[in-house]
Amino acid sequence: MAENIIAIGLDNVVVAETDLSLVDGQNGLLVYRNHWARDLAIHHTFEEVAHLLWYGELPTEQQLNALKEKLKANRTLPAHVKAALDQIPADVDMMSVLRTGVSLLAEPTHAWPPTLEQVISLTAKMPTIVAYRQACLQGTEPLEPNSALDHTANYLYMLKGEIPHPAHVRALDAYLILTQEHGMNASTFAARVVASTRSDLISSITAAIGALKGPLHGGAPSEVTEMIEQIGTKENAEPWLRAKLEKGERLMGFGHRVYKTIDPRATALRVVASELSADDPWFDLATHVEQVGLKLLAEYKPNRKLNTNVEFFAAAVMRAVGLDDAIFTPTFAVSRVVGWSAHVLEQAANNRIIRPQSNYTGVMPE
Ligand SMILES: CC(C)(COP(=O)(O)OP(=O)(O)OC[C@H]1O[C@@H](n2cnc3c(N)ncnc32)[C@H](O)[C@@H]1OP(=O)(O)O)[C@@H](O)C(=O)NCCC(=O)NCCS
Repeated sequence: MAENIIAIGLDNVVVAETDLSLVDGQNGLLVYRNHWARDLAIHHTFEEVAHLLWYGELPTEQQLNALKEKLKANRTLPAHVKAALDQIPADVDMMSVLRTGVSLLAEPTHAWPPTLEQVISLTAKMPTIVAYRQACLQGTEPLEPNSALDHTANYLYMLKGEIPHPAHVRALDAYLILTQEHGMNASTFAARVVASTRSDLISSITAAIGALKGPLHGGAPSEVTEMIEQIGTKENAEPWLRAKLEKGERLMGFGHRVYKTIDPRATALRVVASELSADDPWFDLATHVEQVGLKLLAEYKPNRKLNTNVEFFAAAVMRAVGLDDAIFTPTFAVSRVVGWSAHVLEQAANNRIIRPQSNYTGVMPE
């Protein structure tokens, strides 16, 4: 048998062609179709960028209104989903609840190939699942979606029970736009693998949610806030971080498989977070921890080019708009479902089952 080249972690392996995004890790650039993601985050909204990714272009005013209406019309959860969510014990984490809630949205008519109607319906309902669960945990009555509000504002409204401040909506919108899409990351790959078997959209997205949940992927932002809390003071930053690295542990919110320079999403979100948190001692401490972390990573891993990643400032933005740590990663899923579903549609349009190989290292029978 011919020897295969093993690519542990699929490092540098190209598995698809995509029109959706370019992640340039050497130069720290991120493009969604033919737009800089950074500019989209500053000048556009969640729905406009979702339209770009799903339909291939930024919407006209008429197209935007049509998409907003479709999203609004699909936000409410079916009764059987609410009833099932009610049964989940309180100590089950929010990502598992989201994965289960999404799974329950499967419908008999949702066969191959996936459609944009299914994609919009799912994207509209994911924020409602998160907000419904949070209300149940807090012992408050879950709020029905507010059709006067757009996607991001409605999400904040359902979570916090009041019409959100426009600055908070803007900041969260920027975060959600910057995390909608990011090339062939682990969760997107998981979604495409499932789609490649001609399984349904819901199965692809539940697989992606499972992948995103891991602390090496989307589970990092809540670990960032936990790290800052444990560090507590500026004086404690260096000894705390040094002790971690001495034990061979990883610093959360740093490093990336593709970016070998600053993550452009971190750069953009740092600005967003600092605008909201100018007088917040937490943010002052966080930026100090970032600087010490970068210094120590350069000392301990001099050849690895470890920089601040998106999760570090994602945590700062979500905290600044008043979200609880427990819903940081579910909020990431609420945005990334746009990219996952765009990839599923792209996979379906030009499908071949994804089926790599493994080298057998066991013993052959006699
Ligand atoms: C994102 C991440 C999983 C990428 O991993 P990767 O490309 O597979 O990198 P590797 O696991 O091969 O690590 C390469 C080296 O850098 C080190 N490294 C990578 N990220 C590190 C971090 N955050 N802290 C300390 N060391 C780190 C590894 O220990 C390894 O060192 P070694 O070769 O001396 O053993 C990794 O950087 C990480 O675990 N970061 C922390 C979690 C995080 O913030 N995730 C969010 C990503 S957006």
